[in-house]
Amino acid sequence: MSTSPARIAVFGAGYVGLVTGACFAELGHSVVVRDIVGARIDALRRGEVPIYEPGLDDLLARNSERLTFTLDVAEAIEGADFVYVAVGTPPTYSGDADLSAVWTVVDELPVIDRPCTVVMKSTVPVGTGLRVRHRLDERGLEHVGYVSNPEFTAEGTAVKDFMRPDRVVVGAFREEDGDGVAALHAGIDAPVVRCDVASAEMIKLAANAALMTRISFINEIANVCEATGADVVRVAEGIGLDRRIGPSFLRAGVGYGGSCFPKDSLALKQLAANSGYHFQLLNAVIEVNELQKRRVIGKLHHHLGSLRDRNVALLGLAFKPHTDDMREAPSLVLAGRLLAEGANVSAWDPVVDGIDLHGVRMAETVEDAAAGADAVVLVTEWPQLAEVDWPAVAQTMRTKIFVDGRNMLDQEMLRGAGFAVEGIGRAAAGGAA
Ligand code: UGA
Repeated sequence: MSTSPARIAVFGAGYVGLVTGACFAELGHSVVVRDIVGARIDALRRGEVPIYEPGLDDLLARNSERLTFTLDVAEAIEGADFVYVAVGTPPTYSGDADLSAVWTVVDELPVIDRPCTVVMKSTVPVGTGLRVRHRLDERGLEHVGYVSNPEFTAEGTAVKDFMRPDRVVVGAFREEDGDGVAALHAGIDAPVVRCDVASAEMIKLAANAALMTRISFINEIANVCEATGADVVRVAEGIGLDRRIGPSFLRAGVGYGGSCFPKDSLALKQLAANSGYHFQLLNAVIEVNELQKRRVIGKLHHHLGSLRDRNVALLGLAFKPHTDDMREAPSLVLAGRLLAEGANVSAWDPVVDGIDLHGVRMAETVEDAAAGADAVVLVTEWPQLAEVDWPAVAQTMRTKIFVDGRNMLDQEMLRGAGFAVEGIGRAAAGGAA
């Protein structure tokens, strides 16, 4: 297994491609990142990072000598030992993953007459690798290797997740191609799972499905807690200490969102359906998540009755803290429902500067968003929200309802500030509403 620096072309300068490229440069490899969006490449060449991802700007700056950016396929491929595919695979109307960007990369590969390996980082349906293999063979590129090396990085912690992963998965058709990709990760201290391509593809989808299942599970437990007087935070702690269960991904809330879980759950559901299998559990996980996003509306109804002309402030819009990503964010569903009910919606987020929904007023500060509100809904657990002077905010509100959609803040403190407090899966705590 060679550990010498390699030349890596990364196709796609999105979250996954940029983090992959920057981290491989940090590991000593020489990296060319190629994208089709000129403005993005220009910005990267100027040293500007087009996405918000903690630590990424430092990493790109520190490794600038080993990193270049281009729009040109030939320039990217020139001398490349590895071609990483890190392009988007968004869902189509049918729920299947749209692989057109992946096929474009494969079809645009020039004739390569030296050893080179195509590595799939994008999340793709099981069986994609085999189809790519056939396509490469048809084009006379039998000598070009193919490896599935799925990513397990979460937005907001992607750099850390790449450099200190729980595992690296390498699925290959030929042992030596897998050896090469495993060797690229020399310097990373993690178990390497070596397997066939289909299994590597399934590991990615199954890992995300397992995490989503845990979230929908704890959200349903939360809903039963609400109906029975138990507290889901204590329940999650109590079950999470069982080593067979573990504490991660047991935070009840307003449902999962983001660019991965919703898309990957649909893709796996559709993959199963296309193979003639009805994936009952996954269907339930998806449905629970959809309902969970809407439960906040019921809580507001409970306190305020009709929401027409009520003022509601949404605190945090991104699908989770430490990212500016709004894809499938629960805040979008919440804002949409509130507007449909005739409520006036204001919103604050420290990073997201707009919401693509006509009628939502963006505020610069939490205080501004909440002034005159009938209710505030904590949607995303940004740490800044722990620093807010809540008694002062309560004084400026018309009705003092606080729905903590992430069970983030101390309910006693909020009650003390005069709020009627609702969490998720916790007994509702009254105040001066
Ligand atoms: C997720 C996975 O965690 C990564 O391992 C994976 O590589 C990535 O998808 C992907 O497929 O690319 P990400 O979507 O960035 O990463 O974010 P997570 O931290 O997993 O959070 C996803 C959603 O679940 C968020 O909306 C979050 O608020 C929610 N969540 C998470 C909960 O509601 N409760 C929890 O206990 C944990």
